[in-house]
Amino acid sequence: MSEVTKLSNGVQRASTFPLDASQPISEKDAQSVKRETQLSDARAQSTTMEVVPTQVGYDRWAEFYDSEDNPLVLLEGKHIGPLFGDVAGLTVADIGCGTGRHALRLAAAGARVTAVDFSTAMLERACSKPGAEAIAFVRHDLAKPFPLRSAAFDRVFCCLVLDHIGELNNFFLELRRLCQPKGRVIISVMHPAMSLQGVQARFIDPASGRRISPASHAHQMSDYLMAAVRAGLSLEHVSEHAADAALTAQSPRAVKYLGWPMLLLLKLAPSYV
Ligand SMILES: C[S@@+](CC[C@H](N)C(=O)[O-])C[C@H]1O[C@@H](n2cnc3c(N)ncnc32)[C@H](O)[C@@H]1O
Repeated sequence: MSEVTKLSNGVQRASTFPLDASQPISEKDAQSVKRETQLSDARAQSTTMEVVPTQVGYDRWAEFYDSEDNPLVLLEGKHIGPLFGDVAGLTVADIGCGTGRHALRLAAAGARVTAVDFSTAMLERACSKPGAEAIAFVRHDLAKPFPLRSAAFDRVFCCLVLDHIGELNNFFLELRRLCQPKGRVIISVMHPAMSLQGVQARFIDPASGRRISPASHAHQMSDYLMAAVRAGLSLEHVSEHAADAALTAQSPRAVKYLGWPMLLLLKLAPSYV
């Protein structure tokens, strides 16, 4: 099935929901939209995509993850900078660090970095890079309580991970638990609107030519925001970023998303009421 067919499928799916943009969507409605979207996605993608357990997927993706022209990674790299701020001398957790894209940059900027992931192959890539010796890497499944001390971090980063996390409430509670009272939690995630295009994290397996998708979840915007609020985190920054001409020049595969929101960024602060 081509991308174009998938795109038209996505739009048709969206239009079958009785959504009135002028009316607020209750949490119950949002849950039912989410379930329908997940079911439709599963049906649409079962013919085109091999969905594998998340850890297995990233273990396979690790070999060429850094060399792809991944438009989401490129877009995130362009916009997340201002949320980093000056991290020199700060303690930083990179939750779901992957191949160390942010952990290494943060350590080079003078932060004391602890980086967590459950993919051995992604961690091995990260550890093999110059500067990695300064970082404390931890192999851990983030679906379980994080093996890190409470209030130990000035900054808690979690970048391009949340769509792989099924239970968001506990996950956000853990992010907040790690964060110092005056610290910040910084999040990037694939924009939920991408699921309306049938898109989820995936790569092409060079050996078979098949699309492989590490298992993920079609969360709604309200799922992310309400999980943050329930965890006692207040919103300091929310922004949504669409594919533009500059991105398509860097990554031609982004052309099909031109003008479509691809990325959500959040900066959160522990709230005390
Ligand atoms: C798209 S990559 C992002 C990596 C890195 N944060 C970045 O922005 O380049 C997602 C990462 O999340 C990790 N991940 C997903 N679910 C996880 C879990 N339950 N426990 C630990 N790591 C997880 C994957 O192994 C992968 O390295």
